[in-house]
Amino acid sequence: MNPWQYNEQVHVGVNYADLQQAKAYDARMARLRDVAAEADRIGEALALTSQDTVWEIGVGTGECALALALRCREVLGSDISAAMLSVAQAKAAERAVRNIRLELGGFLTGFRPTEPVYAIVSQLALHHLPDFWKFRALQGLYAQLRPGGRFFLRDVVFGEQADYDAGFAELIGDLKEKAGEEMAQATSQHIRAEYSTLDWIMEGMLTRAGFRILAKQNEGLLTSYLCER
Ligand SMILES: C[S@@+](CC[C@H](N)C(=O)[O-])C[C@H]1O[C@@H](n2cnc3c(N)ncnc32)[C@H](O)[C@@H]1O
Repeated sequence: MNPWQYNEQVHVGVNYADLQQAKAYDARMARLRDVAAEADRIGEALALTSQDTVWEIGVGTGECALALALRCREVLGSDISAAMLSVAQAKAAERAVRNIRLELGGFLTGFRPTEPVYAIVSQLALHHLPDFWKFRALQGLYAQLRPGGRFFLRDVVFGEQADYDAGFAELIGDLKEKAGEEMAQATSQHIRAEYSTLDWIMEGMLTRAGFRILAKQNEGLLTSYLCER
């Protein structure tokens, strides 16, 4: 390995390598997200058919990947956390979803599909890398996508604000009310310690990596980018 290579195995912020954290993840997300509806929206945005292979990177506990598997030929799911993958694997077995393959691997190292895929999905994971390494990851994902293939990226990015502290204080206050103290603390930790970037930097990185941004949607701190190679 090159001596300058970023070590993506070190979890910044939440420690997803921890099995207790992995086991508690779905219940925590259910308080904030409708993951089944998200997967429907992603499946439609990608215009998936039963012929297509999808690679989801930072697949976590696999809820989205398992739903996408019902819409396509095969889902490849990768993540750096064996704990998160073990939860996803158990759900695949329980639900008898057989067209999903889960592998250890990150944005920068480890598992890669053997041939370019039609679609790549990544949600709430790219912010684990500092910006230069996000760009390297995006260049790598571009290379793994078939020409005309689609990339759906959803992550926390920051829009331009005149007063970030006031904006964050309001957001954390709302979260405390709606999702409780733990979620409010996790979001503060995200802003403080993880590597979420600015939306205009993310757009610059996507386009410079070669992607064409077809659509963009903001929901609070989260932004989705539907891109094409
Ligand atoms: C917040 S969870 C998101 C999981 C899932 N995508 C979702 O939407 O619920 C972040 C996931 O990214 C994974 N992750 C962190 N760094 C990564 C990297 N460098 N490459 C791939 N996955 C990574 C974590 O292990 C964790 O499973």
